[in-house]
Amino acid sequence: MNKKYIAEPYRIKMVEPIRETTRKEREMLLKNAGYNPFSLRSEDVYIDLLTDSGTGAMSQEQWGAMMVGDEAYAGSRSFFKLESVVKNITGYQYFMPVHQGRGAEQVFLPQLVTKKGMFYISNIHFDTTRAHVELAGARAIDCVIEECFNIDLDHPFKGNFDLVHLEKLILEKGKENIAGIIMTITNNSAGGQPVSMANLKAVKEIANKFNIPTIIDGARYAENAFFIKEREKGYENKAIIDIVREECSYADVFLMSAKKDGLVNMGGIIAIKDNEQLYNQCRVAVIPYEGFPTYGGLNGRDMEALAVGLMEALDETYLRHRIDQVRYLGDKLKAAGVPIQYPIGGHAVFVECKRMAPHIPSEQFPALSVTNAIYLEAGIRAVEIGTLLLGRDPDTHENIPCVLELMRLAIPRRVYTYRHMDVVADAVIHVYQHRNELKGYEFTYESPILRHFTSTFQPIEN
Ligand code: F0G
Repeated sequence: MNKKYIAEPYRIKMVEPIRETTRKEREMLLKNAGYNPFSLRSEDVYIDLLTDSGTGAMSQEQWGAMMVGDEAYAGSRSFFKLESVVKNITGYQYFMPVHQGRGAEQVFLPQLVTKKGMFYISNIHFDTTRAHVELAGARAIDCVIEECFNIDLDHPFKGNFDLVHLEKLILEKGKENIAGIIMTITNNSAGGQPVSMANLKAVKEIANKFNIPTIIDGARYAENAFFIKEREKGYENKAIIDIVREECSYADVFLMSAKKDGLVNMGGIIAIKDNEQLYNQCRVAVIPYEGFPTYGGLNGRDMEALAVGLMEALDETYLRHRIDQVRYLGDKLKAAGVPIQYPIGGHAVFVECKRMAPHIPSEQFPALSVTNAIYLEAGIRAVEIGTLLLGRDPDTHENIPCVLELMRLAIPRRVYTYRHMDVVADAVIHVYQHRNELKGYEFTYESPILRHFTSTFQPIEN
């Protein structure tokens, strides 16, 4: 039997109807949204691949667990349940919940910024991570391997740190000026690409040599563990939980947006290995932003659902299907010649639109053009990750040059079926085959910060 892509390892017993619109309707809806897919109503989207964050489906065990949530302000039973799960997974001593990943960043990242002129180094900082590094008064430097930017190159761990460059950066900036090293697993911005265990270990060794703390950004740490099991020698027969524990052993702190591999719609985690002083600092900092340290912006029932979801996301069959489904879509696109980041990542397929629409210059946002075209074609919502998202240099006000103009098709967990992936593939392939008709876009309003969320556009007619 062909098990190239395993079938859904669940039965669906609650459904949310979705509606297909007509092309004429979509033309009007997109125009009214200022040609910015963020401004569409989700009701007007047929298949929503904007993000895999907080968009997953919960299991019957999670819904059941919510019924026993203890809503006490301080010291609830639900907190202690979640705490014991997080400690068990990470092997760390200290834990506090937060409302989502950026909450963890806001509370934690300033703690290591002890003076002016400090840096965080990451393989690639996620946008909100970069924003919180900067808000904390530090600067963010990315240090991913070169191979990551060559979309055709088959490399098993394109999310890896460039170790030579990392050490050079530390020496250049001075070890006392490095606040921490952030290991983003999987590496979202590079295409959901995994980081190998050998690389995590080597980063930790370099960090130890210079006495710099390491932090895991673990939004998709379970998917990363699955890739390690699949691709790294010596891990073929290890249990996912053991791989995850080893991942955690190479960090001092674990920050997580639980909206991804926590399988919940809202939630986040700060866990600290053994630094009691750092934990105490976070405990103070969390209160004004997120809430008392035993709830951190979450309800008791949210913590119950997360305690169950964290363990479900470590189930190997669940992960196999998850990764297979994303790969199924990517394989279809690649077979049709659509340029994508390859190998296909954990949570999304990334289409390279500079190559797809070479006639559209970067400042006319080729990836927005492709994103809008697939909405018009089939009501599918994706997201631009290119020049539009990168924004302008704060000093020169020029668009920051962008190596890849990506459209991300992020797949929510346990929500869509392979048949939905067929529909997505057909739409993207259709747009690819008619790529010469794609038009660039110009601003009708450019938002001053995080411009991709709220700017409006019009197509450039020529
Ligand atoms: N770190 C990574 C690697 C992320 O991908 C995200 C969110 C965050 C941190 C922030 O977490 O959203 O819970 O505050 N990524 C989402 C995405 C938004 O669509 O990729 P958050």
